[in-house]
Amino acid sequence: MEPRRAIVSLTKCNACHSDLEAHGRNRNQIEHCVECHNPTLTDAARRTPAQMPAESVNFSSMIHRIHTGTTQGRPYVIYGFGGSANDFSKAALPTDARNCSACHINNTERLPIAPNLQNVVDPRGWLTNPGPAGAACLSCHTSKDAAAHVQLTTAPLGESCNVCHGPNSAFSVAQAHAQ
Ligand code: HEC
Ligand code: HEC
Ligand code: HEC
Ligand code: HEC
Ligand code: HEC
Repeated sequence: MEPRRAIVSLTKCNACHSDLEAHGRNRNQIEHCVECHNPTLTDAARRTPAQMPAESVNFSSMIHRIHTGTTQGRPYVIYGFGGSANDFSKAALPTDARNCSACHINNTERLPIAPNLQNVVDPRGWLTNPGPAGAACLSCHTSKDAAAHVQLTTAPLGESCNVCHGPNSAFSVAQAHAQ
């Protein structure tokens, strides 16, 4: 099987985490995280009917949201083992969130992203099934206005983001996040 595209590296994560491990020692590789944390995975299995709708744990959505918890403007709570509520609303990066390369390698935060990626199941988002680029951007840009902008620029044919946020465009991802 062809290896999946590399987007972030554990070495970068561990500049802050020293030894990142989630769910115990046997799952401490990024490549393993995304085997489960795919675009359709939510915490639905751990919620009671009263706690629905479920929350997305798609890897990019989850990691972006966890590290911008204080600026999300809404709770980001994932129900885990035994129905425990993990509230990440108070977590934040100790650096400017525009510093994408704190996690990303090889400018993978920029558009365009790979073609033919899946839409993201996001039951608690303004858009409950955004396209792959839209979902990545909206996991930090949480306003209703931003979601409406993404909705408007997503055509039946697909996302049109690269027209204005592509590498040579006036509002390229690099330009937009320059500090
Ligand atoms: C610039 C520093 C920094 C970088 C880089 C970073 N993190 Fe974090 N991360 C944090 C901080 C700070 C928290 C919040 C800790 C807290 O409040 O307990 C956090 C929380 C988390 C959490 C929530 C659970 C926990 O362990 O506290 C996960 C999961 C996580 N980070 C994964 C990652 C992954 C995966 C990467 C790389 C793709 C990454 N982090 C990169 C600083 C960073
Ligand atoms: C075998 C599948 C699987 C793998 C591999 C996996 N996860 Fe998870 N993870 C889940 C599921 C499913 C949930 C949703 C809550 C639940 O069902 O327990 C979750 C929830 C989480 C949560 C939020 C709840 C909590 O327990 O803190 C964090 C943070 C997390 N995963 C981080 C990671 C990271 C980082 C990796 C890779 C190092 C990883 N996971 C690998 C399946 C997995
Ligand atoms: C705390 C770590 C962290 C930071 C900081 C971060 N990202 Fe990400 N980003 C991730 C993770 C983790 C993924 C999913 C990686 C995977 O699927 O292998 C991701 C995925 C993405 C994707 C989808 C890429 C693809 O090919 O599927 C885009 C686009 C993106 N991020 C944009 C950004 C932008 C823009 C910034 C800065 C303004 C940023 N990210 C900052 C962790 C981070
Ligand atoms: C890791 C979080 C993160 C991700 C992911 C992210 N951004 Fe941003 N972005 C920011 C922050 C922080 C700013 C500074 C202004 C602010 O706080 O909204 C910003 C600013 C911008 C701006 C300048 C206009 C403004 O609102 O200030 C544009 C345009 C922009 N981002 C586009 C994008 C696009 C397109 C994507 C997806 C490819 C994306 N962003 C993904 C965090 C992020
Ligand atoms: C016709 C041009 C155009 C297209 C197409 C377009 N955008 Fe934008 N976008 C803009 C402009 C202009 C801004 C505002 C830039 C600024 O204020 O610096 C913006 C801002 C944004 C912001 C920041 C919003 C905020 O206020 O927080 C995000 C996120 C974003 N775009 C994502 C996307 C995504 C995802 C797509 C594709 C689904 C997309 N855009 C398509 C022109 C466009």
